[in-house]
Amino acid sequence: MTRRVPVAGEKPYEVVIGAGAQTELALVLAGTPKVAVVHAPPLAAAAGAAVETLQTAGVAAEAVVVPDGEAAKTARVAAEVWEEFGRLGLTRSDAVVGIGGGAVTDLAGFLAATWTRGIRVVQVPTSLLGMVDAAVGGKTGINTAAGKNLVGAFHPPAAVLADTDSLAGLPEAEFRSGMAEVVKCGFIADGAILELLDADPTGRRHTEELIERAVRVKATAVGEDLLDTGVREFLNYGHTLGHAIERVEDFGWRHGEAVAVGLVFAAALAGEAGLLTPDEVTRHRDLIAAMGLPTSYAGDWDRLQAVMRVDKKARGASLRFVVLDGLGNPRILTDPDQAWLDAAWAAVSGVNA
Ligand code: GLY
Repeated sequence: MTRRVPVAGEKPYEVVIGAGAQTELALVLAGTPKVAVVHAPPLAAAAGAAVETLQTAGVAAEAVVVPDGEAAKTARVAAEVWEEFGRLGLTRSDAVVGIGGGAVTDLAGFLAATWTRGIRVVQVPTSLLGMVDAAVGGKTGINTAAGKNLVGAFHPPAAVLADTDSLAGLPEAEFRSGMAEVVKCGFIADGAILELLDADPTGRRHTEELIERAVRVKATAVGEDLLDTGVREFLNYGHTLGHAIERVEDFGWRHGEAVAVGLVFAAALAGEAGLLTPDEVTRHRDLIAAMGLPTSYAGDWDRLQAVMRVDKKARGASLRFVVLDGLGNPRILTDPDQAWLDAAWAAVSGVNA
């Protein structure tokens, strides 16, 4: 049985979650003349199955191979695929399918957003992180020398097919990393997620329900604020320090691991500001630790603060954090007291600044 989460907007769409969800490609793209199925080499089998499903439904589908991981998100790769789209003769009636983790779905979405000024994209995320975050909400883009995701477009998909069969081959550490975005959704909006993770911190016993609940949290935010000028920013809980750790570590840390430390930091900061009780701060650390995610990080505090000030979510040079004013009640804290920041840093680093 599949679970379905509607996402509101100018062109509403559904996120379909469950084993075998990828086969819905035939329904979603029925009647489409041509489809380019963009994927990285490790997902050749899944892409082959998608091409076959589409061809059986009478759609002329072709696989387009791109590099794996962040190496896909470059202007050079985008230019090569645009050439390929030209050779395939893709028009505005046609569509792109992105099969893969967040990097490939970001690229596929960007290619669809730009080809003939925008054609449909159906995202088929194969990582937990992709299912609960990257593939939902229409943020697409590539990286440049100046930074990640600096070139891109808001281009919501026509559908997201989160086929949980693809999680079987996902390395444990990648699954845990995706769970960091799930627990984030629990803290900002859905206490039932926290209870499910209390019952089974691995998330394995309730994977589909957790994905559905996390997608509902994201769908609510992006349905209301596609362009990220309001409530969508709450999805950034834990990300201000998390992004800085990723940058300082040259992206050697998994996104979810960096966000996990960022969540513990943000909770400690809210505790210092009197917005969370000591028990609520402890609840963050204990649950994240039980999930096998990191809760501490030792690094150069001055450098991290400098990086946080130029985070793309920062406005001007001010420091902005999503914090909780009680569990489930996110708000923005701008330029907190240095003493609160230093105390929150001590809580994750064990070092008094
Ligand atoms: N990953 C956060 C967002 O889509 O806004």
